[in-house]
Amino acid sequence: MRPASQLFQYARRYLGLIILTTVLIFIYIFISQGRWLLISPFIKYCEAIIGTHTLGSPSNQITGIGAEFGKKVMAVLEQWIQGNTIRQSIFNIGWIILILGILTALLNYIKDYLQGLVSLKIIIDIRNRLCAHLLTMSLRFFNDKKTGDLLSRLTNDISIIQSSVNFLFGDIIQQPLTILMAFAFMFMLDWQLTLIVLVLIPFIALPVLFLGKRIRQARKTSLAKLGDVTESMHQMFSGIRIVKSFQMEHAEIRELSKENEAFRRKSLSIVRVKALGMSLIEFIGTIIVLCVLFGAVYLIKNGRLNIPLAFNFAVFLATCLKPIRVLTSSYNALQESFGGAERIFELMNHKPDIVDAPDSIGLSDFRREISFKNLSFTYGEDSSDAVRKPALSQINLSVKYGETIAIVGPTGSGKSTLLDLLCRFYEPTEGSIEIDGLNLKKIRRSSLLKQIAIVSQETFLFNDTIRNNISYGKPEATLDEIKEASQAAYIADFIEGLPQGYETVIGERGVKLSGGERQRLAIARALLKNPRILLLDEATSALDSTSEKIVQAAINNLMKNRTTLIIAHRLSTVQHSDRIIVFEEGRIAEEGRHEELIKRGGLYSRLAGTLQSAPAD
Ligand SMILES: Nc1ncnc2c1ncn2[C@@H]1O[C@H](COP(=O)(O)OP(=O)(O)O)[C@@H](O)[C@H]1O
Ligand SMILES: [Mg+2]
Repeated sequence: MRPASQLFQYARRYLGLIILTTVLIFIYIFISQGRWLLISPFIKYCEAIIGTHTLGSPSNQITGIGAEFGKKVMAVLEQWIQGNTIRQSIFNIGWIILILGILTALLNYIKDYLQGLVSLKIIIDIRNRLCAHLLTMSLRFFNDKKTGDLLSRLTNDISIIQSSVNFLFGDIIQQPLTILMAFAFMFMLDWQLTLIVLVLIPFIALPVLFLGKRIRQARKTSLAKLGDVTESMHQMFSGIRIVKSFQMEHAEIRELSKENEAFRRKSLSIVRVKALGMSLIEFIGTIIVLCVLFGAVYLIKNGRLNIPLAFNFAVFLATCLKPIRVLTSSYNALQESFGGAERIFELMNHKPDIVDAPDSIGLSDFRREISFKNLSFTYGEDSSDAVRKPALSQINLSVKYGETIAIVGPTGSGKSTLLDLLCRFYEPTEGSIEIDGLNLKKIRRSSLLKQIAIVSQETFLFNDTIRNNISYGKPEATLDEIKEASQAAYIADFIEGLPQGYETVIGERGVKLSGGERQRLAIARALLKNPRILLLDEATSALDSTSEKIVQAAINNLMKNRTTLIIAHRLSTVQHSDRIIVFEEGRIAEEGRHEELIKRGGLYSRLAGTLQSAPAD
């Protein structure tokens, strides 16, 4: 059972707590079951009150296995109870039951607390580890996965595992132990009646085991459906502007309720199977009680059992029927959570495809050149339905320290992909990228990314203060440094004009800011990082011409003294670069300076007409 053993891995470090809990559970069960032995002396005294019995000890008739031991235990108990009068003896029984009751309540509190503590610790461990693990994955992994589904696994699936953890470290010990203890006492009191119960018990166990498998599979599918629902909601809210502007609210809701319906159908099948199992148990439980009752009548009639013992037996039988029910529902919960655990560990066992090589080295400050050698890259090579057309093929390019390279080309020609590969978000399919003669695969990722900053068309801002957004990636930056970066990015005046200045919290994805302001914040962030290599991916293309001018000025500040690869759509930007690389369908079609390329009359000269001129001054 793989998910179970993997769960156990997480439990191992709390072994001390688990053992302590188990010991407490054992004591708890011994006391809470054992105290019911007081029933038969109690009835004996009751019989004495109404005069149907002559104070002989019912325990003399104990016939079960371990009867000798049982008689001794009972003798000790009866000695404790024995008072000067019947009334006093009954009160003694009451006292003992009360004290044991307080003790069991106390033990119950401690063991429940410890159980809850352990299962929460394990669950939180799993979630933290899973998140940390997911962050090590390359972009390829996230391209293949749906965000909503990932979120659903991290929340819904993990909380369903919690019940199995509860089961593994609580019920799996406590309930069988309670049942065993009850059986031991029953055997001691009367082995014949116990035999009846034992013969009938498998009729409960078999359906439970059989139905458990179905529950597990159904829960896995239902969680997948819940993942779809979450994904739908995620898309709906992250694309809220589009949804509203196209007035697609009704269509979205219809789509969502369709998915919710699929989830309902799957979940309801679990409810049905569980209800069926429980009803079977109720019914078979009744049959067992009936058989025991008639068996007891038969034994009493033949003088082989007395009424107090029969009554005591019935009490033990009752105490073991409840744990059987609990065990069943826990077992079902366990099966359900294995459905969830399979989905969780599926992610956990996903090996990151880009990791630091064991012999990786830190990149010292970049000072010579970046070279792309025979670089080819294909998205989704391992998924059969994805387009397998290479996004880049046979790229050979070298960028000298301090150079500004403009990359132009039609959309989809692979420009952004080239920058992603330079950041090692993806691994090249063929060929290599070298920085100062070092293969990217040999460079420690943290040291690589320290030298690079990216500003792209789509800026992501966190739902946090402006200050933290700018210092993201350099949390130790002082306020003065942040102000300086903001000034160079021409955003300082705007920030200082806000009532809370740098401490202003911006909404999710920075919705409270205009496109130009967001872009300038991103530039301030990059300035503060002070990278040697700057990657600009159409940073101004989504802006109107007024905000573009100021953003462009900020970018010019950012580009000073750096090596820059700039994907541009403005003629002026391209003209000012040291070299222009023209991309076409994943290949470098042309390379050179503006005038040369125009003269050549190739793709660039045609593209140049579509490049926009600088916004009017
Ligand atoms: N995450 C992705 N998964 C699969 N294909 C992608 C992905 N991103 C881009 N592509 C494809 O790769 C090609 C190059 O894309 P891209 O580098 O974004 O082009 P550009 O930036 O020049 O517009 C395109 O055909 C595009 O459809
Ligand atoms: Mg692009």
